[in-house]
Amino acid sequence: MRKKDLKKDIKKNIYNMDQKNSFKKKKSAFNKFFKNSKKKNKHNLNKKNIQSKNFSLKKNVYPKDSISNIKKKNVKNFKTILNKNNKLKKNSIKKKKYYKNSIRFKKNIKYLRKNINKNFLKQAFHKPKNVINKKITIFDQITVLELSNKMGIKSSVLIQKMFHAGINLSINQSLKLDLAQLISEEMGFQVKLIHKNFLEESIMKDRNFNLSQKKNLRPPIVTVMGHVDHGKTSLLDCIRKTSTVLKEKGGITQSIGAYHVKINNKRITFLDTPGHAAFTSMRARGAQITDIVVLIVAADDGVMPQTIEAIQHAQFAKVPIIVAINKIDKNNINIEKINNELMKYNILSEELGGENIFVKISVKLNKGIKNLLNSILLQSEMLELSTYSKGMATGIVIESFLEKGRGIVSTIIVKEGELKKGDIVLCGLEYGKIKSIKNEHQKDLLKVGPSIPVEILGLSGLPFAGDILTVVRSEKKAKEVALYRKEKYKQKFFSKQKKINLENLFDNINKKNISELNIILKSNSKGSLEAISSAIKKLSHKEVNINIISANVGRINETDAYLANTSNSIIIGFNVRADISAKKIIKKENLDLRYYSVIYNLINEIKSSIYGMLSPKYKQEVLGLAEVRSIFKSPKFGFIAGCMVIEGIIKRNHPIRILRDHLVIYEGELESIRRFKEDVKKVRHGTECGIGIKNYNDIKVNDIIEVYKIKKIKRL
Ligand code: GTP
Ligand code: MG
Repeated sequence: MRKKDLKKDIKKNIYNMDQKNSFKKKKSAFNKFFKNSKKKNKHNLNKKNIQSKNFSLKKNVYPKDSISNIKKKNVKNFKTILNKNNKLKKNSIKKKKYYKNSIRFKKNIKYLRKNINKNFLKQAFHKPKNVINKKITIFDQITVLELSNKMGIKSSVLIQKMFHAGINLSINQSLKLDLAQLISEEMGFQVKLIHKNFLEESIMKDRNFNLSQKKNLRPPIVTVMGHVDHGKTSLLDCIRKTSTVLKEKGGITQSIGAYHVKINNKRITFLDTPGHAAFTSMRARGAQITDIVVLIVAADDGVMPQTIEAIQHAQFAKVPIIVAINKIDKNNINIEKINNELMKYNILSEELGGENIFVKISVKLNKGIKNLLNSILLQSEMLELSTYSKGMATGIVIESFLEKGRGIVSTIIVKEGELKKGDIVLCGLEYGKIKSIKNEHQKDLLKVGPSIPVEILGLSGLPFAGDILTVVRSEKKAKEVALYRKEKYKQKFFSKQKKINLENLFDNINKKNISELNIILKSNSKGSLEAISSAIKKLSHKEVNINIISANVGRINETDAYLANTSNSIIIGFNVRADISAKKIIKKENLDLRYYSVIYNLINEIKSSIYGMLSPKYKQEVLGLAEVRSIFKSPKFGFIAGCMVIEGIIKRNHPIRILRDHLVIYEGELESIRRFKEDVKKVRHGTECGIGIKNYNDIKVNDIIEVYKIKKIKRL
């Protein structure tokens, strides 16, 4: 009907125009037409109840079809009119007056076309007059991005607002609670602040745990550590009389296994750790959750890198070490040598006046195993390990993994209380209801007490090894706390917590963030190592305790880097350098590595960093490294090293060091750099060159020439 009416109207108007050929009349005809069409459209929309005065954009949105259809139809009608009009224009082109008017007429049509769109939109949308008062909740610190998301505004808008308020922060930087509140309220938001630990405190208070109950003895948690293939898994197999070794891929352990055995009516929980170099973090974790470490040393192999690493982890965690010298059935063994090697790391047998129990065993011949077990029981008795065995449990996660058909499986050890099937737990960033408890033989249990390793099902996600599991009352609250922890974890992840370094040391001491400075020291000689160690130890004062976690001769390797990361230490290289794999870890974990060649500088720098006087200071910056590939003698320059630049740029007029197997053997200056018989000032990475060293002829193939500069740096 509407379509027909419109067509009729158009025809009638055009007929009139043809007849009278007068612009005024044409204009009024068009006006009339638009009025009609508008009225009709309005009427149609009203009919559909689309248009309402209290239009809210979210609830009642115009059906896009109706608007666009109406627009299209109107435009179509106009076009036909325009075409007709053009014909008329041609007919009466001679008449000047008409021509002028036709321009005006076109303008009018444009105006009308614009207005038609405007009118529709004007009637369609009423902007809300009052700002909607939103409520937002902020926990602890919040990043700019997170705050803008919570407010539902663009982060750029928030950054701009803050900038005007004199706060210059980027998108991933975090705001303090009061600042976030101030800005949010300034922007018309109602802020609910949830203070640190508020949720956690409330949920932890609401636990049924009777501290007045009597403590009971608990089984010791014993971690077996040592170098790869020294017989850790074989020993546990022998104790458990199973054969795990045969089932392991490539015969090496790649995860922490937890087992529990009963000997002379006494229980012991064993944790098997991997010995391969790649599993440092697992070994560190093993040492942290244990009561006793059994250090396995193969009699034929002796003290190896991961043996040393295991000692360092155990000493860092302050856990007693029982040494088990394994494979004594082998021929070429030297136990004396092992004892001497271990002595270097303060592991001394009781017979020699030390504190460690030494046991000789052969897993293969099942020899000495009973003696070892008795020693473990004796050591645990000395430790007087006891805990509360009733009440809501707390435990620690050893491992977690996804298993087909079972879902998220977590191996845990209960530390205190009793864990029951159906308990609601909070575990690190996860929560859940315990669906099943199984022991290592896959037997279902209804409850489990302290020190017994079990597999549990029912957590919302994979927890991290080392996470604490706590039984709580309310699942809803546990979920809230888990969410809060996740949010906090994300913030921590984004803000990339700064590792300890000498520059931020003083600030951290002042803020009471640290009271200890851990150092891993590597040196090129035993003499300098001892001198530096004793000088550094003397620097400890009442606010900062300086611990030398490890002090060894030789290059800085992967193990040092991993140890520095887990113990939050700085690494000091005295006339030694880090190898490639160590460098990678140091870079990735943002560790503080410092090289020194003068003891005086080393001691002074640590001293001034402790007392906050590190500024201004100088730092050595390595410009480039060149590897010596060949040596030849030139009559003019003497010995020339044919080199390849393997890192950075080699520049003239800078001091150099010569490194042989990552140890500094010479310090001096460059005499000449040549490329294709031409003297050059610098050579870049990946290029070959000939290097002459001033007053030094003892250069050898595979030596590294390190060019460095002394840089003045400001304190952070
Ligand atoms: P990773 O888990 O990879 O660190 O090794 P591991 O320390 O667990 O060593 P594993 O138990 O896998 O044993 C390594 C090899 O040493 C196996 O082939 C064992 O059979 C052998 N072995 C273990 N104990 C003895 C022993 O007392 N005598 C001899 N001759 N061989 C042994
Ligand atoms: Mg093993």
